[in-house]
Amino acid sequence: MTKINDLIKKMTLEEKAALCTGASPWTTTPVERLDLPELTVSDGPHGVRRVADINNLIAASLPATCFPTASCMASTWDVDLIYAMGQALAEECIALKVDVVLGPGANMKRTPLGGRNFEYYSEDPFLAGQMAASFIDGVQSKGVGTSLKHFAANNQEFQRLSISSKMDERTLREIYLPAFETAVKKAKPWTVMCAYNKLNGTYCSENHRLLVDILKDEWGFEGFVVSDWGAVHDRVASLKGGLDLEMPGPKERRVKAVVEAVRSGAMGESVLDESVRRILGIVFKAAETSKGGLFDTAAHHALARRIAAEGMVLLKNNGILPLKEQQHIAVIGRAAEEAHFQGGGSSHINPTQVDNPFKELQKSAGETKLTYAEGYPAGTAFDQSLIDAAVKNARSADVALLYLALPDSKESEGYDRADLDLTPQQVALIKAVTAVQPMTVVILNNGAAVVMSEWIDGTAAVLEAWMMGQAGGGAIADVLYGKVNPSGRLAETFPLKLVDTPAHINFPGGNGEVRYGEGIFIGYRYYDAKEVPVHFPFGYGMSYTTFTYKNSKVSAASFKDVDGLTVSVDVTNAGKVTGKEVVQVYVHDHKSGLVRPPKELKGFAKVELQPGETKTVTLALDFRAFAYFHPAYKQWITEDGEFDILIGASVNDIRCSQTVTLQSTLELPSLLNRESTLRDWMEDPRGKRFFTSFIQQLPAQMQAAFFRGEGEVAGMDTTSFFMDTSLPDRLHYFESALPTSPEDLVDGLLAQVSQNK
Ligand code: BGC
Repeated sequence: MTKINDLIKKMTLEEKAALCTGASPWTTTPVERLDLPELTVSDGPHGVRRVADINNLIAASLPATCFPTASCMASTWDVDLIYAMGQALAEECIALKVDVVLGPGANMKRTPLGGRNFEYYSEDPFLAGQMAASFIDGVQSKGVGTSLKHFAANNQEFQRLSISSKMDERTLREIYLPAFETAVKKAKPWTVMCAYNKLNGTYCSENHRLLVDILKDEWGFEGFVVSDWGAVHDRVASLKGGLDLEMPGPKERRVKAVVEAVRSGAMGESVLDESVRRILGIVFKAAETSKGGLFDTAAHHALARRIAAEGMVLLKNNGILPLKEQQHIAVIGRAAEEAHFQGGGSSHINPTQVDNPFKELQKSAGETKLTYAEGYPAGTAFDQSLIDAAVKNARSADVALLYLALPDSKESEGYDRADLDLTPQQVALIKAVTAVQPMTVVILNNGAAVVMSEWIDGTAAVLEAWMMGQAGGGAIADVLYGKVNPSGRLAETFPLKLVDTPAHINFPGGNGEVRYGEGIFIGYRYYDAKEVPVHFPFGYGMSYTTFTYKNSKVSAASFKDVDGLTVSVDVTNAGKVTGKEVVQVYVHDHKSGLVRPPKELKGFAKVELQPGETKTVTLALDFRAFAYFHPAYKQWITEDGEFDILIGASVNDIRCSQTVTLQSTLELPSLLNRESTLRDWMEDPRGKRFFTSFIQQLPAQMQAAFFRGEGEVAGMDTTSFFMDTSLPDRLHYFESALPTSPEDLVDGLLAQVSQNK
């Protein structure tokens, strides 16, 4: 710290301003005079995209392992595996001379149409937070930094550089911030990348409340905030807003603007010094890890294969899988010959090698005859002759495997999806093939949910293989042949149709803004609350074995919020093969002051079980597992009362439940005010006391009429009516009998409540 402070004193104003803007698209500004090295960053998030020419924004990149993208990673529900991937990424960064990898992405999948959903983990903030934290821990355990992105509320590509995400405070705190909050508090990323978009009208890059009040002050973030590439509009406003490093560089005008702002007094030098201090802290930390050398390409490829296999989700299986000894398999679909393993945009990796799915299948298939048909053309074109050839191929075989990839034009960074459909040719192909070959398995490569109602009934099995990374071709073969028992579980809901999705009527917005009208009800929180049927629920996925749950226990039937709770359950592998189960814990609040989703994920664990084996899975639930963010108190609160602890295999497959009673230890100020209704007064413990004693002082006749009114008036139940009338409004009915005005009377009561005497 002293070293950094001394250095800041030695730096000229120009040097400090220059440090806060990149020297190149991927490096910070070095100061040779003071032996201050540069810092090199690269994308991110599922591989290292280290451009060969560091002065070029979009130059070809050096070979690196392309791991599965975040959709697949999150579907593993395996924090240890993500940690291992983080370590491998760090090893590649070291070899490729990269100090900070630009990931993970912790944004919520607000709608399955989001073009970058493949780079994000989940529709659930708890799951996304755990994944992001493990990723960061893994990378940083090797002395390489991360950049947690895109902070915050970056949930669509439409007008991505300017759109304003409009949402209420509770939605921000409960849905769009917690994954970042968990990652920052638990794993301390070296850097956080601010998003392009505005949040409630202010660019994230200039958003003091977001970057300083919340991120740095409230959560204690100690690293530096870097802009998304090109997210800065006004360098001085962004420095004041807490944005430490602008990227990409060089940008001489920006540096000059900062120098002038300090000289003219428009910005205090201490603002600049604070950003310099944060950047230098990370520059020196990065320099402690010496760079260069090689990484183990084979080991990382094998790890990528493991993650891919663990993240693939078996959605349907009538028993055809795992594949048995067949004589002839028809392999249909371009994606069998040309693996679709990553998405377009800044995360695009130059892979060290790519598994060919067909060849990998051949290795597992042994003597089985495999015949190939292309099935569909590149892109979205339609070619009936390819369908005809595929049908011929499928008809003569025992089993058909359809390898289908969503074309890049339908899903990428930079644009949102127009629909949730496969291409018309792919749908026609599935229908035609399944019509002649009921033993058809569909294998999907895509980054986010697709709809299937039109074609799934004819299939024997469906495997969601995601954007599976460079080793995914082998991972598909592993799952199809049962070398790996599928254990992926959906980290996002697969809806029946697009119109069912929660953000449908508000997405993608217009006139410069997108209204988050569904509020806290995104993903399963919405489908569950509205009882909207879905195709495959959050947390769902099949295995080649079955699991039973019994003996659920809680550490206490009644507990204090600060003590939290421990939940355990015995899970048994009731089948004949080894498998892994993802045990999920959801919390349901019986009664709350503000509306809450019926279920919220608050814990999970992945366990491996041999046939017949039982393990006790234990999970801890803390204060936050029971709390919600109250906009009036401006904090997370708990309320006394009963909660159900729901343990299950998906949000719709709850196997055990326990009801517990929480005692809140919070002492919250009263929210009563002049507009509070009679019901509010009666439900507030302090209010009720003073209000009741006030009523008792009224003449008996008035007392009787106060709540009840005249009984039924004009077909109206006046009791219900008056309970939802504000206290001054109700007192106006009795004005002539009151010693003073209703407003004064209520003010007197409010004073008593706030003094609580
Ligand atoms: C993306 C970031 C990425 C950056 C650098 C931006 O367009 O939004 O995710 O890290 O470019 O490539």
